[in-house]
Amino acid sequence: MTGTFDVYVTRRLPEPGMSMLAAHARVEVNPHDRPLTRAELLQAVRGRDGLVTLLTDPIDAQVMEAAGPRLRVISNYAVGFNNIDVAEATRRGVLVCNTPGVLTETTADLAWALIMAVARRIVEADAFMRSGRYEAMGGWSPTLLLGSDVHGKTLGIVGFGRIGEAVARRARGFDMRILYHDVRRRAADEERRLGAEYRELDDLLRESDFVTLHVDLNASTRHLIDARTLALMKPTAYLINTSRGPVVDEAALVAALRERRIAGAGLDVFEDEPRMAPGLAELSNVVVLPHIASASTETRARMAEMAAANLIAALSGQRPAHVVNP
Ligand code: DGY
Repeated sequence: MTGTFDVYVTRRLPEPGMSMLAAHARVEVNPHDRPLTRAELLQAVRGRDGLVTLLTDPIDAQVMEAAGPRLRVISNYAVGFNNIDVAEATRRGVLVCNTPGVLTETTADLAWALIMAVARRIVEADAFMRSGRYEAMGGWSPTLLLGSDVHGKTLGIVGFGRIGEAVARRARGFDMRILYHDVRRRAADEERRLGAEYRELDDLLRESDFVTLHVDLNASTRHLIDARTLALMKPTAYLINTSRGPVVDEAALVAALRERRIAGAGLDVFEDEPRMAPGLAELSNVVVLPHIASASTETRARMAEMAAANLIAALSGQRPAHVVNP
């Protein structure tokens, strides 16, 4: 099939993704080390049979129209696909694919890194040490950088899919009580097996010491955490977000953190990424990361392999393993 199909990749992927694609199609890649501008994207997709896209590329009707009638598949290099108008793709007979499963454990690891970092003030402590203040104060102190215990506390998981479950598995090692909220309540024997108790969202927020978000972004989850729901959390509780930024009303979160209505937050995603809401960067009770939940060398390589395999299958007339069209 080499050379028969034209494929555009909006950002160079790790190997083996690029080699797999090149073995099956004529491939062109964004030459820049930055996302394409809208105008560049509209130009780049013209006449392509397949696109490999990123979560930073808004793929809507205009982009599909610009690609033209040959477009058969959009393979997103992410498990999330809120950047793609799937209904429009379906209407045009274009397959949309994603990369589920391979990033589950890596993302759960990072949610845990954020839990530990905010609770034990790791980033503040590192800055304190590097600034020479520890030496200047003469060393160990009974009250220096006191944080919160994690073990034995209550963890509230909002969105109990693959990643939520992987976070719960880790929490069992910390002897935590695990609460979950999801649109789909698990059967009683599954809840027992997972050691997790179901709660309505408001109750979960009231009872949890750590609230971690693992929902998809859609109309019902946009601003799921806003001023009202933040007000339900304990003043000693922490919010962790490794899902999508707009699940949290970031202005409301900044206000809650500033006024210490909650104890802290660990954020890997932002409402208007890559920007942060005004005031967030000045707060010491928040740890902020540049959307790196899946960023291990191994996982990014597996995601690239899966994105390439999805695209190749679709262009070969087979059903890709991971299609999100209904
Ligand atoms: C995803 O896959 O949706 C993550 O946000 C990036 O890996």
